[in-house]
Amino acid sequence: MSQRYNDIEELPGVSAKLAEKLRELGYSTVESIATATVSELVAAGVDEEHASRIISAAREGIEIAWVTAKELAEIKTNIGRITTGSTRLDLLIGGGVETQAITEFFGEFGSGKSQICHQLAVNVQLPVRRGGLDGSALYIDTENTFRPERVTSMANSLGLNADEVLERIIYAEAYTSDHQILLVEKADKIIKEKNVKLIIVDSLTSHFRSEYLGRQLLPERQQKLNKHMHKLIRLCRAFNIAAVVTNQVMSRPDDIFSTMAVYPIGGHIVGHTSHNRVFLRKVAGKPLRIARLVSSPYLPEGEAVFKITERGVEDVEATE
Ligand code: GTP
Ligand code: MG
Repeated sequence: MSQRYNDIEELPGVSAKLAEKLRELGYSTVESIATATVSELVAAGVDEEHASRIISAAREGIEIAWVTAKELAEIKTNIGRITTGSTRLDLLIGGGVETQAITEFFGEFGSGKSQICHQLAVNVQLPVRRGGLDGSALYIDTENTFRPERVTSMANSLGLNADEVLERIIYAEAYTSDHQILLVEKADKIIKEKNVKLIIVDSLTSHFRSEYLGRQLLPERQQKLNKHMHKLIRLCRAFNIAAVVTNQVMSRPDDIFSTMAVYPIGGHIVGHTSHNRVFLRKVAGKPLRIARLVSSPYLPEGEAVFKITERGVEDVEATE
């Protein structure tokens, strides 16, 4: 998508003051205004006619870029992959976590979602020949579970300089769902500056779950999550980076006959926009984990066993 306006200040009718206010509310790009509704901007204190003019200008300023299938094929050949640390898990998801897409790891508490995030934040820094993308990671933590010392031990296991690895993980704690949304919306600058190749949101859904309680708020929650996921996917495509999100699942006692008696908290909307969804489960009393590829646009469903040890995410030996 190419744009006539680079900054929201350039839009006719948007003063520096209004731009600042819009940014505070999460409308930091021309694109976000083009996809906003009049009522959203009215709620932000802009009068109706003014809001509709700004939105129209933003929409006119965005040119939809049609590409030929050949060009599309070229874009796809640029897809990069990050190893998870386990060759079997990599194979299950088509050769590692891919750029230009969102990979969602979902599962119960302790199933290894955050461990995989830590490992990927390290592995993305590896050179391409070792399964990395020679880039840095952006880590959005919503549950305050990021542990630098865990990164240190993973980095040491790979023979990397732990200080350098920590230096290339750019961390932010998101305090609310709105804050989390804003962090993603404002990520483009830092992605460029720091050569970010992976953006992690651990967890995608925890704030949404605690803030939007009850059936009544469900549509609003889904709509916000959906928009948030779309922002993420746009970043992935614009910068050829990977996004990894986690999602805790709850058990569903009424569904005991289902092979998967759990369902992702984000429900189906998250499922449709994220491209690869991997369900993780524990094996009682063992460091083993089973990953199941649940939905992917082009890969077959399947399972892979891996383990989480002191060294991080690893393959299971034949004897284990
Ligand atoms: P929630 O965020 O609670 O939903 O869980 P999660 O899926 O993020 O779980 P997480 O990735 O935090 O996995 C925790 C598990 O990883 C622990 O129960 C351990 O089995 C393993 N683990 C975490 N840290 C270490 C470590 O330093 N050494 C070893 N050997 N295992 C670890
Ligand atoms: Mg976790």
